[in-house]
This record gives sequence, structure tokens and C-alpha cells, in this order.
Amino acid sequence: MAIIYDREQGLLTLHTLHSTYQMGISSYGHLLHLYYGRRAEGSFLPLLSLRDRGFSGNPYDAGNDRSYSADTLPQELSAFGNGDYRHSGFRLRTADGACGSDLRFEEARRYPGKYRLPGGLPAADAFRTEGEESGAESLELRLRDSRSGTLVRLLYAVYEEEDILTRAVIVENAGAEPVWIEQADSAALDFPRGHFDLVHFSGSYGNERLYHRERLSAGEKSIGSSRGASSHQHNPFVMLCTADSTEDSGEVYGLALVYSGNFRISAEVDQLGQTRLSAGMMDTHFSWRLGSGEQFCCPEAVLGFGEGFAVLSQRFHRFTSRHILHGTFMKARRPVLLNSWEGCYFDFDGTRILRLAEEAKELGIELLVMDDGWFGKRDNDLSGLGDWQCNTKKLGMPLGVLAEGIRERGLRFGIWIEPEMVSEDSALFREHPDYAFRIPGKEPIRSRMQLVLDFSRQEVVDRIFRDLSETLREAKPDYIKMDMNRSIMEAYTHAQPAAGESCADGTMQNRGALLHRYMLGVYDFLRRMQAAFPETLIEGCCGGGGRFDLGMLYFTPQIWLSDNTDAIERLSLQYGASFGYPISAVGAHVSAVPNHQTGRSTPLATRAVAALSGSFGYELDPAALSPGERAEIRQQIEIYKRYYVLLHEGDYYRLSGAAMGCAAAGFGADGNMGSDSFSAWLTVSSDQTEALLSVVTRTQHCNTPAEYIRLRGLRRGREYRIAPVMQSAEWYLPKEKEALLFHRFTGDVLMERGIPLPLLPGEYQSLLLHLREV
Ligand code: GLA
Repeated sequence: MAIIYDREQGLLTLHTLHSTYQMGISSYGHLLHLYYGRRAEGSFLPLLSLRDRGFSGNPYDAGNDRSYSADTLPQELSAFGNGDYRHSGFRLRTADGACGSDLRFEEARRYPGKYRLPGGLPAADAFRTEGEESGAESLELRLRDSRSGTLVRLLYAVYEEEDILTRAVIVENAGAEPVWIEQADSAALDFPRGHFDLVHFSGSYGNERLYHRERLSAGEKSIGSSRGASSHQHNPFVMLCTADSTEDSGEVYGLALVYSGNFRISAEVDQLGQTRLSAGMMDTHFSWRLGSGEQFCCPEAVLGFGEGFAVLSQRFHRFTSRHILHGTFMKARRPVLLNSWEGCYFDFDGTRILRLAEEAKELGIELLVMDDGWFGKRDNDLSGLGDWQCNTKKLGMPLGVLAEGIRERGLRFGIWIEPEMVSEDSALFREHPDYAFRIPGKEPIRSRMQLVLDFSRQEVVDRIFRDLSETLREAKPDYIKMDMNRSIMEAYTHAQPAAGESCADGTMQNRGALLHRYMLGVYDFLRRMQAAFPETLIEGCCGGGGRFDLGMLYFTPQIWLSDNTDAIERLSLQYGASFGYPISAVGAHVSAVPNHQTGRSTPLATRAVAALSGSFGYELDPAALSPGERAEIRQQIEIYKRYYVLLHEGDYYRLSGAAMGCAAAGFGADGNMGSDSFSAWLTVSSDQTEALLSVVTRTQHCNTPAEYIRLRGLRRGREYRIAPVMQSAEWYLPKEKEALLFHRFTGDVLMERGIPLPLLPGEYQSLLLHLREV
């Protein structure tokens, strides 16, 4: 049994195979967080530190007992007004303007299977039908604020085998008057001891998911987004780890939100050195009116614990692949695609697309994606968004004919859309200017010359879905790339106020609430697209990785990681993404050189080695390739197919530190693993009989000391043989190569010493090696 409720002791224990999470009900009925970490039996309740700390208030019913304070005790969900001066995960305002709740435990209920979330949010296993086995066990805890009558339901699911827990919060107004939720976090973890680092993945457009590791000290460190999307700048996956943590050791906690909108994750070290990690929707500007009888559901949070980063990452990878992704492409091999963007930008017609298809077919590519520019009046990014009718004049043929033409040439057909946006120069905007978010009397903030459609309104979602699905039905796309190319500034709806709402009281136009409704509209749109095109692979995109999170992955099993296709920069981006996300989630393409973003030239093999650790494709004009390059690409695609299962289902190990080659420089050193002269990573099959090692060199110096790449995850006592799969250049010293390829090595030797980093001429060289047990 994964969940144990000891009613007598007031103890709630959640066990996975290797971790334990424990809560206790205090003598006053507060739900305290007692422990999360390595699997442990027994009660942590008697170990609470109960001391009078001064200036930390006490609940009224504690009488003269000054040792009991919400300000110093670890809380499961800290309620604002309850005596806790740290970040509160729950803040409720009542009609009289007061914010002060006191959540007390009422009851607990355990049940097999995964809890359900109402209200349209994505969640782990939400796609399973009732009764279908998810492998999870659930717990529901009910807390009540007696003053307002509000009920707070805390939901937990235990994925024993995956070593993962999920959490969610549902707030129900059981009182007669409306209440306003001003803060509702999805999860919090309180640690009574320890010095922690916060690891987060922040960056900018073109520099998404860069690894940052910071020592926490007194005060609060928070990251988040108020841009309407989870953003390029920050990511709703973080890790909290003990200061000594490495890939293989240390106490490491992972937390991810299954949400794609505004969020906030903070780590706070309090007056006693205790650490609180909390995560939820963005609180700034958030206020949600909850009428009598209504309920509000917070996004789900996913929690994991592991000893070392490697094992924690693998747990998140496995969990995401099994319980977040769903549909045909949860397991099916992702097709190798050619995307038209960097090869053509807006400059194409149907004939050019068909020619691309012919050339792609000749290379072994399986799917052709026609990117931006096929609809409305769209020869640049100044116009046309919102008009989802095919521009047959530009293409020179109807969309259905083009799609058929691509299929006749032996490829599958993919297409780009950006449903949430509208150009001012579009028929849709002229017809319905009220469909865009705009503040009356103020010129809107433009970004890429486009405005954001108000997806909080059902009729707007309906209209876009109707137009797009009608157009796409004609083409029956096998793949859709769903983009979103700006942040949201003005959130102001022109919808008619619903009963009980008025613009005047500020509730209807509350930015936080509106942007949450917007996000629910986006999810609704995606759900309908999935139902309309069940066999279609939808790839997420937001100017690259501006909405790269578990919420989107629920609908779009792969997401374009970045518009930055430079192979060397990608190493840093993919390194960062690998901590929380499986490689199948990461859209990765080989593009032309000199690279369009950086001007850097790298060997074709190096670009492929980088992209192979992702959902693989190309983004270039095949007509510009030499015969030699064509042959190389054919081979790369064979390699991708041959090693797909190993790459996508194997255990992923980082073998080098964060490469600080790009904009990450200046944000502080990695602190994880040393050298930045190379990047290396490894995937090992679950039975440990084979592995694929990828190595890319970044810098080259004269007479360097020997560097060894220490492998991980192999089996001790077993022997492996190493074979080359792909390389960008011949080894400089043939003897080194011979020594490595000729001998057999035990797993012990490869893990204790590792293989010497081969001398390859110049920078940006790469090697792909296959290891097989003999
Ligand atoms: C975004 C995407 C690109 C491309 C363009 C098209 O920037 O990230 O891949 O689709 O839009 O406008």
C-alpha cells in the first residue's frame, strides 16, 4: 500500500519505491508537512521543534502555549492570516475585504487510481478512461476555513514505481457569499534543516532552458512568468538540492507544474534557516471570484526526489513519457521531418513546397512541414494572422491538392498554425476588433506586429477552431506545428459581463484571472484539435521554447525547443532541458551553415549528433546540399531509425557540465561538472546491454592534459565493445582509436576512468559511439 493513514496518530504517509512523503495533523488540526526524502519508515511527528520564538504569533486556541506557531512550523499549505509570515500558498478575501483564513483538517480519504481534476486543466493520466489502470493511488485531504465556509481539497497521487507524486488543490466555496481567491499554490515543501541550492532553467528568446544553480540564503528567490505563457525567460520545472549534490549524489527534489500560463516558483529561507519551496499560478494581479457553490482548481504539480540529478531526471523522463504524454505519439516513433522555415521563410509557393518534398524524399525524410506563410495575406509577419483560409493564389493550388501532391511523393504532410494571434491587417480583425485583447482608450503594445486573441471567450475559440479545422480537414495533416509568437501585455476582455460580474468591480478584468481563463481556452482549443485530428502529431512552439512545460506536453508530445538552431548553442539548451524533460519532448533540427542565428559553421555530423538527442528533423533547403552531404543525411536518418528506441526509451545520463558557450556565460558557473571543452551524454538501454555515447568538442587547445569521459549507468562486471556510429572527422591519432575500438572494457573501467576524449582536429567535432555488451 503506497498511502497509509494512521488515524490515531494523525499521520499520513505516502511511499514510493525509493521515497517517502509524510504529513501530520497537529493537536490544533493544522496539516503539517513532516518529511519528504529517501524512503523512511516511522513517524516524524514527535520531532517537530516547538519553541517560543518571539514575534511569531500563536493560534487563539493554543491559549498560553507560545511554542506553537504557524510561523515556524512546516505547513502543508500555508494559509494567509494564520500566523505564518512566510510566503503563504493560500490567500482568500471575503466580501468584507478581509484576508484571514485558518485551514483546519476535516477528513482524509484514500482510493485506488488517479484523482480527477475538474475544469479543463491537463493533468497526469487525465486521458485515461474511468476504471483504466494508471498504477496510481490517491489521497484526498479536506481542510476547512470555518469563517468563510471555504473547503480546500488537497489531492495527492502516488506513482510508486516511477517514484513520483502529484499534487493538486481544489477550492470550493461552501459558504453563502462569494469569496475571492488571491493566491492558490499547487504545492509547497517545507524543510526544517539543510542548506540548499535552487536549480532553475532561465534564459531568453533563443536561449531557453539554461542551467542556473544558486545557493539559497536568508530571504526569497523567485522565478516565474507574467507573460501569459510559461515563457522563454523561466520554466516551471525547478530542482532544490543539498549544496553537495552532483549527478550521482546529494538530496535532489524536482518540482514541475502541469501548466503553461503565468506561474511563480519561490524558495524562501526563513528566520530559522528553514526552507520553503512553493509553486503555483502567478499571484501578482490574481484574483478569482468564487461564487457560492463554485469550485476552483489549481494546476497540478509533479514532485520527485532522487539521490543525484541523474536519477531524478530519469524519474521525470519516465513519468512524463508514461503519464503526461498520450495518444498515438506517446510511443510511436516520431517521423523525421523537413521544416520549410529556415529553407524558405515566407518565400514559397506550392511548386517550391512540392520540390522540397521530392528532395526530402530522396534524402529519406518522412514528413514535410509547410511553415508560416500559407494562409490569408501572409508574405511577411505584418499581416494575415487570424485568416485561416488557404492563400491559394500564393500557393498556386488548393491546400488539399498540395497535401495530396506531397503524399504522392511519398511523404506525410505537416502544417504550421498560430491560432491565438491576430494581425491588425486581417479580415478577422476588421470584422471583430473586439476579439483581441485591448484596453479601451489605449493603443495596444504590439509585438511582432500582432495582437493576442481573447481565448478566454468561448466564441473566439469557437471561431478559430471552426475556421482552422475546416481548412485543415481538406488537407488532413499528419502533423501540425502550433505556434504562439508574443508575450501578452494587455489582458482586457470585451466579452459581455456574466451574471454577478461587472467591469466596475475589477473582477472581470482581473489580469491574472483573465489570463488563466485564456489558458483554459487554449487547452480547450487543443483538446478539440486532438479530437478532430486524433492521428495527427501536434508539435508545440512558442517562438521556440517559450511554452515548454508539462501542460503543453500533455497535448503536444514534442515542443520546438528554440529558434536557435546552432548546434553548439543547442548543447547548452538541450543540457538544461534534459534535467526535467525526456528527449522525445525536444524538437531538434539540423539546419544549414553558416547558422542563421549565430553565423557559426559546424560539421554536418555535429549538427546531427546534437539533433539526434531530440525529436529529429531538418530545417534547410536540400537544393543547396552537395552530393556528399546528401549521402551523409541519408545515413543520419538510418542511424536515427536504428537507435530510436535506445535514444528515446533508454536512461539518459549527462556526462559533462553545463556548457557555458552561449548567453549562459555571465550567470555563474555550473557547479555540476567541470570541463567545458566538450559536451557528452549517454543513453543506456534499460537492460544495460547497450548504450549510445554522444560527444561534441567545443574548444581546442595545444598539448592539453588527457581528459576522460566517465560513463554512467553501465553494468559492473560486464564487458562492452565500442563501435563508431558517426563522426565529423577522422581521429587525429589512429592509435588512440585502435586502442578504444579493439579492446573490450568492463563497465567498471568505463565508469571509473572513462574513455579518453579523442583528439579530433579543430573545434565543434563530434563522435557517436555505440557500446554493446559482449
Ligand atoms: C516562430 C517559430 C519558427 C517559425 C516562425 C514562423 O518564430 O519558432 O520556427 O515557425 O515562428 O513565423
